[in-house]
Amino acid sequence: MEILILESKDAVAAFGAEIFAEQVRKKPASVLGLATGGSPLALYDKLAALHRNEALSFRDITSFNLDEYFGLSSTDARSYRHYMREHLFSRIDIDESRAHLPACRDDEDPWEKAEAYEAAIREAGGIDLQLLGIGRNGHIGFNEPTSSLASRTRVKTLAEDTMRDNRDWFREGEPQPELAMTMGIGTILEATEILLIATGSHKAPAVRRTIEGPVASVCPASALQLHASVTILLDPDAAAELELTRYYQTTGEHQARLLERWKRPD
Ligand code: F6R
Repeated sequence: MEILILESKDAVAAFGAEIFAEQVRKKPASVLGLATGGSPLALYDKLAALHRNEALSFRDITSFNLDEYFGLSSTDARSYRHYMREHLFSRIDIDESRAHLPACRDDEDPWEKAEAYEAAIREAGGIDLQLLGIGRNGHIGFNEPTSSLASRTRVKTLAEDTMRDNRDWFREGEPQPELAMTMGIGTILEATEILLIATGSHKAPAVRRTIEGPVASVCPASALQLHASVTILLDPDAAAELELTRYYQTTGEHQARLLERWKRPD
């Protein structure tokens, strides 16, 4: 795991956007794994700005979102499809027919839809770079605590913490879905590279358990310790409970020097 503690929330968004932009420049037909929620908003703003001002093109990109609320149509304003349109898709030149979310309406078979989502990821050649946020309970995607670390795409019941944290996304009196279709932890771990971003003190305990705790399903994000190429970008508040901060800084400096001396071809 590469842990980078940056000076601010804005620096996390800028650095994260640069990692995504670099991936797209290097491989214009990349398969990107995308997330919703508050964490990626500023990163998506920066990608939209790179598209607008520096002609960064997403024309050949295929994308797969981590999750979607269960039982909603793609035009429902509560859906993550709607969120993605508003915050990213409508602001870049992605071909939305290649922008996938694990949607499942009430009248559709969730098992078939989940298998089809997994198959679509495989057919696209797998995810090159997966973006993750983290829940205050340590969830990634909607893999809530005690989710199997080998899980695949399926419908999950949202935890109480998650329901509470996400309430603000819904209007007064609007029903809040209690179920979501989510990539599994096993699915997420198959991405070639993973970028997790976390900001704010409410994320600090989950960040500590993810990085310095044991690998355990009570903190689903701790499964990232099993992946060979994970970068975690934190602001000082989210990093506040880490014990090995100095070590992460030192390894970062050493890594930068090694990279400088032994540049790897792309
Ligand atoms: C969103 C997702 C979730 C969020 C997490 C953090 O697609 O999969 O795991 O990343 O709940 O949410 P925010 O960023 O709103 O704190």
